[in-house]
Amino acid sequence: MEESFKEVKELDDLNEKQLKSYAESLGKILDSGVILLIGELGAGKTTFVKGLARGLGIDEGEVRSPTFTLMNIYVGKKTLYHVDLYRLDDPESLFYIGLDEAIEDEDGILAVEWADLFPEFWEDVDGIVVKIYIKPNGKRRVILMDTEKEGIISESIEIWEKGEKARQVFEKK
Ligand SMILES: Nc1ncnc2c1ncn2[C@@H]1O[C@H](COP(=O)(O)OP(=O)(O)OP(=O)(O)O)[C@@H](O)[C@H]1O
Ligand SMILES: [Mg+2]
Repeated sequence: MEESFKEVKELDDLNEKQLKSYAESLGKILDSGVILLIGELGAGKTTFVKGLARGLGIDEGEVRSPTFTLMNIYVGKKTLYHVDLYRLDDPESLFYIGLDEAIEDEDGILAVEWADLFPEFWEDVDGIVVKIYIKPNGKRRVILMDTEKEGIISESIEIWEKGEKARQVFEKK
């Protein structure tokens, strides 16, 4: 993962519903690529993947951390590959079960929890980095970084904000 990010954005004070709905907006416009999720235990990485799944037309109930299976594969409008590097005895074993193919799948998205534990895996990968921080008030601060300059992050935020405004109007009624 090269360090020169073309696009960096921040979303602050997100509750769980908002974190998920933002991820859903991103999932709706993603073509392919890798989503590198970084954040402490319980930050909301799996929650984010559930939102992505929703955006891809996958039942979010199917999404759970792939600790024993190494990689979960969910099929929707696109294929969503889901790995979690936390406490993997032998992360290299992911390559035997097709991590490279998941990265290269032009019709699939790979979501990686604890991506920061093995930065060397992502050196040559273009993807979106999602850092989630737990705030003292329990809400989340999310930093989004992209090495591509196509503006996927801005576009997804725009879509999400429109949806948020509509939801607020709806909820006031
Ligand atoms: N704003 C929020 N965004 C996301 N999760 C939240 C938020 N507020 C509370 N939560 C709770 O925090 C927990 C996040 O859990 P989740 O499994 O998504 O974290 P994780 O980062 O995947 O953890 P792990 O490192 O164990 O894989 C859930 O229990 C969720 O209900
Ligand atoms: Mg998790």
